[in-house]
Amino acid sequence: MKPPEMNHPTDLRGMAASVAARVETSMRSDLDAALAGSDPLLVAVLHYALFNGGKRIRPLLTVLCSRCCGRDDESLYLLAAAFEYLHVATLVHDDVIDRAEQRRGKDTVAARYGLSAAILAGDWLHARSMHLIGRLAGADGLEIFCQATASMVNGEFEQLRYVGDVATKEQQYFDVIRQKTGNLIASTCAIGALFAGADETRQKALAAYGDHLGAAFQVVDDLLDFLGDTDSTGKKTGNDFIEGKITLPLLNALNQATEQERQAVQALMEGDRTQPQAYRQLYALIEHHGGFHSAALTARQLVEAALAALAPFSASSPEEENIALLKELAEYVLARKK
Ligand code: IPE
Ligand code: IPE
Ligand code: MG
Ligand code: MG
Repeated sequence: MKPPEMNHPTDLRGMAASVAARVETSMRSDLDAALAGSDPLLVAVLHYALFNGGKRIRPLLTVLCSRCCGRDDESLYLLAAAFEYLHVATLVHDDVIDRAEQRRGKDTVAARYGLSAAILAGDWLHARSMHLIGRLAGADGLEIFCQATASMVNGEFEQLRYVGDVATKEQQYFDVIRQKTGNLIASTCAIGALFAGADETRQKALAAYGDHLGAAFQVVDDLLDFLGDTDSTGKKTGNDFIEGKITLPLLNALNQATEQERQAVQALMEGDRTQPQAYRQLYALIEHHGGFHSAALTARQLVEAALAALAPFSASSPEEENIALLKELAEYVLARKK
């Protein structure tokens, strides 16, 4: 298995690889048990969707958050697996919504197995993830988990509402990304803490860390949609524009743009967005107004807020090492290329 490419090759990279390996072992044995007697195509689709080079950041967050609140046992890796199930369910469905053809460097589930398989496999993963969270983190965990899922769905609806609309406000963008990405990442942290029996202060601190980190994660994802390399991200560059998504680099540029440029962007949004020339024009305008640079600064600020949220954990606590890893992970989220 290829470990995630972490920026600091020492602690975090090795830890991420060993946690990912344990989570994958948990997923495989859980799938074997839960899918016994199931249709072989369902089994094949789920394995295709799950074991294909994902970074496994959400399960890593659950593990680190539980560890820094004092619990690390075998069932933690199954709890963490539930978050990868949920995440992959959202990816499989998101690729249908975004008409994406590539994910993790391969055909999306819908492209490979068709729409029905993608819808049904996503449903299976949603159901299984809820089953596991209920079993391992109880009613309180399930409450957090279901709220995050409901908010993810609402965020995707709001995003659809703003498609192609150059009048979208920065506040609306942040509202969407917190709902569609931030809350789920926050829930991986909050439930990790809950699982370990952390007090409310620690649970809240880790949830706040996850919320800011999740927003930063999506800002970076939106930057990579323009600046990333398909070979690294495993996703098609420029797809957000094709789908009419107005993300932070463009919003920043629109804030600086003249009325004429604004109208030109509106025309690009209303025109044929699959044209490479249209994409190049939009890209040049964003660059001209420093939209990529300022979005990167925003991601930095969000990471600073995530780090500040960890203040209740003292440097001398026995869980210090895991807090240091959470800090390193936040830096990785900024620097990542995939
Ligand atoms: C992609 O998440 C979806 C977003 C919320 C931006 P990741 O970048 O964590 O995807 P994988 O799991 O590594 O493929
Ligand atoms: C992620 O947003 C939203 C989810 C709820 C999965 P994106 O649509 O930007 O994610 P990618 O770029 O397809 O991974
Ligand atoms: Mg998408
Ligand atoms: Mg994206």
